[in-house]
Amino acid sequence: MRKYLIILLVSMAINSCKQAKELPIIDYIQLENTTLKVEVLAKNLDVPWDIAYANDKSLWFAEQKGVISKIDLNTGEQKKLLTITDVWHKRTAGLLGLVVHPNFKNNPYVFVNYTVKKDSVITNHLVRYEFKNDTLINKKILLVIDGFTAHNGSRLAIAKDGKLLWATGDAYKGKNAQNLKSLNGKILRLNTDGSVPKDNPYPNSYVFANGFRNMQGITIGDNGLIYTSEHGDAIEDEVNLIEKGRNYGWPNIEGKHDLPADQLFAAQHQTVEPLQSWTPVIAPAGITYYGYGAIAEWRNSLLLTTLKTKSLRVLKLTEDGRKILSEEVFLKEHYGRLRDVEVGPKGEIYISTSNHDWNPSPGFPLPEDDKILKISIAEKPGKKPLRGVNSTTVEEIKDGKLLYEQYCASCHKADGKGVSNVFPALAGSKKVLCNSADLVSLVLNGAGEQMPAFKFLKDEDVAKIINYINTNWNNKGKEISSSDVKNKRK
Ligand code: HEC
Repeated sequence: MRKYLIILLVSMAINSCKQAKELPIIDYIQLENTTLKVEVLAKNLDVPWDIAYANDKSLWFAEQKGVISKIDLNTGEQKKLLTITDVWHKRTAGLLGLVVHPNFKNNPYVFVNYTVKKDSVITNHLVRYEFKNDTLINKKILLVIDGFTAHNGSRLAIAKDGKLLWATGDAYKGKNAQNLKSLNGKILRLNTDGSVPKDNPYPNSYVFANGFRNMQGITIGDNGLIYTSEHGDAIEDEVNLIEKGRNYGWPNIEGKHDLPADQLFAAQHQTVEPLQSWTPVIAPAGITYYGYGAIAEWRNSLLLTTLKTKSLRVLKLTEDGRKILSEEVFLKEHYGRLRDVEVGPKGEIYISTSNHDWNPSPGFPLPEDDKILKISIAEKPGKKPLRGVNSTTVEEIKDGKLLYEQYCASCHKADGKGVSNVFPALAGSKKVLCNSADLVSLVLNGAGEQMPAFKFLKDEDVAKIINYINTNWNNKGKEISSSDVKNKRK
């Protein structure tokens, strides 16, 4: 009897300090010496695009449609704080960036950036709020820059010197990135009241670095280094180390400085090479620096979430943080598209899924998506743990199906059915069936605003892709050879 009384009293005591409920463990991950557990922190969300830790022990998240919420990490209590009503949400536009002041307890500032459409004019707004009484007040617009239906970037971070950094997209105009008068395709640096810092590289300009296409992540290392992740065109996704006043090459250079034209431009403009680039693309999204937290194997790494390859990548850094030593891929295809990653105070990791966004993958969303998952050290080894895979350099891809899946399926889908009103179906497409010569030009040169050029592929690979499309999904187009492709190149 006494035993039950004690249990009752203990459980009452726990309830009265609002202890967090145990979270359901859904998976284990086995590293070399450490077992991790994966728990569901939040579910049934609508594309949580950005997550940010605040030092009052809360985790904030921004859903793309414009909703800002916070989770108390002590109690697990989740609260919706604000719906921003002027967010314009379509495809990759919407509420995209959120960061809280590093000393949130004393400076309860929250910074967000989002896309706005008024009449036909699209812009991106950088806005500061103050957190008070469970809502956000005193809205102050710090900066407005150009936007477009695509390539709005963008992400926010606060640097070690307290300045606000905004990693912007080129608003679908590559030239913006090299034009220092445009604020697109740049790292912008601001005081937290929106004014231009006196020590920016160009007088009276927000521009801190230039030459970017469409950045999707930004993070600050323990030693103050700034890292970004960026979507390449059809090739060369990048992770960059950002330095004051430097040029990162877009649109003149993609990825590493490996072509003669790249080297010429690089010599003229002293451009900086990426720390790492990926072809075929992986569609990187959120990035965060993992310092000296609990997970020993991941110390001094960049954690990178990806959309296309649906994975969490661990990019191990050199001691000085200036090079990437290795890359390990976790959770591939397991939880679907991963949009953002953040580190909590004890070195636990939070990742958000993005399976309700504009570009869903077959097999997703999973029940109760989208989610925020928590990854932390498990007390004991779990059953059937997931493991990482070392990433090799670009694989030798030989067959048409694999080439199609690497280069085309992210938009036109593995089944050739496309995405209605966004990416045309190639199954049954008139263009595919009627004229193979036109089709070759289209693939080499790209089409419209969204279809990239694939000139960089070898003739025989273009032929293999086209023959794959021509002979699948009930298409009965004419087969072509690599010399047909060669003849079409100008
Ligand atoms: C980033 C997304 C994207 C990727 C990757 C992509 N496409 Fe496209 N594709 C599009 C869009 C958007 C269009 C429509 C362009 C327009 O006419 O405005 C299109 C059009 C086409 C068409 C014409 C279809 C029709 O019926 O109008 C073909 C054929 C095609 N793409 C083949 C390919 C092949 C082959 C690849 C891979 C080598 C590929 N695409 C990769 C987005 C993409």
